[in-house]
Amino acid sequence: MDSSLTVVILAAGLGTRMKSKKAKVLHRAGGRTLVEHVMHSALALAPAERIFVVTGHQADRVEETLRPLGVGFFRQTEQKGTGHALRMGEETLKRLPGRLIVLYGDTPLLSESTLRALLARHEESGASATVVTTRLDDPTGYGRIVVDQAGRIRAIVEQKAATPEQLAIREINSGIYCFDAPRLWAHIGEISTNNPAGEYYLTDMIEIFRRHSLDAVTLRVDDPSELLGINSRLELAEVDRILRDRKTRELMLEGVTIEKPETVTIDARARIGRDTTIGPFTQILGSTVIGEDCTVGACSIVSDSQIADGVEILPFTSIHASTVETGAHIGPYARLRVDNHVEAGAHIGNFVELKKTRLGAGAKAMHLAYLGDAEIGEKSNIGAGTITCNYDGKKKSKTKIGKRVFVGSNSTLVAPVTLEDESYVAAGSAITHDVPSDALALGRSRQVNKDGYAKKLRDRG
Ligand code: UD1
Ligand code: CA
Repeated sequence: MDSSLTVVILAAGLGTRMKSKKAKVLHRAGGRTLVEHVMHSALALAPAERIFVVTGHQADRVEETLRPLGVGFFRQTEQKGTGHALRMGEETLKRLPGRLIVLYGDTPLLSESTLRALLARHEESGASATVVTTRLDDPTGYGRIVVDQAGRIRAIVEQKAATPEQLAIREINSGIYCFDAPRLWAHIGEISTNNPAGEYYLTDMIEIFRRHSLDAVTLRVDDPSELLGINSRLELAEVDRILRDRKTRELMLEGVTIEKPETVTIDARARIGRDTTIGPFTQILGSTVIGEDCTVGACSIVSDSQIADGVEILPFTSIHASTVETGAHIGPYARLRVDNHVEAGAHIGNFVELKKTRLGAGAKAMHLAYLGDAEIGEKSNIGAGTITCNYDGKKKSKTKIGKRVFVGSNSTLVAPVTLEDESYVAAGSAITHDVPSDALALGRSRQVNKDGYAKKLRDRG
């Protein structure tokens, strides 16, 4: 970590071109907000106490997202341009010597290696500013890099202010800079609003330095995809695609099989073990951790969950905020809503919904059941159509089922209720009282057979 380095991320803009109520930097790609991606790159370079974010639009929400990381904030209540945004931190930043890297909160693909190359170029050139640039086939919307006859950067001209000749320039400003901090603060006050947008452009610093015979240089990057700035939802989708692609490639290289990877969504934070197979159209989201030798069947969604080794998740299953232990089988078409714990080797079949439920080792609920606020002991069998009635219209109550209990099909367990170890519940029962260990509970009316009665009805015509 470099303590003579400060990083400032500009993230105050609304991002008008997103046509959104939500601040641009809070939009998500690859499972993280844009500003979190940029912050990740920053944290690779400098300690959190030397990283600052300029916030404005939805400042509270942006700050809430980043505060746990220990970084500092400056508020820009009126968005008067990138130059103005940086000045919001002037008082504090002026006192920090060394180099200052400025990043924009809407450039989430930036890699650590490019930032390191930027620092190296800045050191070696001794310039007052180093600008990361690239060449684009279509430079529309970006600031253009104007060079002098010797090929040195002379100015950055914004799209709105550019002449037709300047618009033809394909080398663009990425919005990533390294400044010599004292020289920046000595001259930043010279930025004016003398441009068609009437904004304070940080990019004007290049021309200002030139006026003072201070040098600026460029670091030209060959792969432009890394510098993609997000202004509209089209670019957001493109960045999302790139991030998804990076993640699935990384996992495949680490030994995960991903079928039709172009259809799969795996968030940046998710981890998956070797020899696990991920089916097509699957989504692995949030902080999910999946072990080795698992299968996640097609079209399943697993979010913020812990899945141990050797778990089989069959297609069309949805698992959220739950823990699944080794060798369990879940699905197809199962739903683990929230806070469930499925122990080793348990089976959950089709159209079974679990909520805040613990299913013991080797227990089974194979078909059509709702198990909410329940604790189910090991090797118990929950018949098809079993419902835990956990809600009386006012409060939620618990169902406790012991070990090796057999609950017959289509039973209604009215909570609070306990079925003790090795008890039986007859099919079709409505259970409103506790069932002692080894007992059989019959909670239904007795069947009556009336001999010959069906024939009589038929003959009546
Ligand atoms: C900016 C650059 C442009 C460059 C492009 C790269 C300027 C003047 N232009 O243009 O040369 O090619 O980025 O992506 O810098 N922001 C604030 N406060 C403000 C205005 C902006 O915090 O008052 C923040 C925004 O939240 C955003 C970043 O600065 O994260 C860039 O602003 P944006 O309006 O997107 O600049 P561009 O027009 O893309
Ligand atoms: Ca932008």
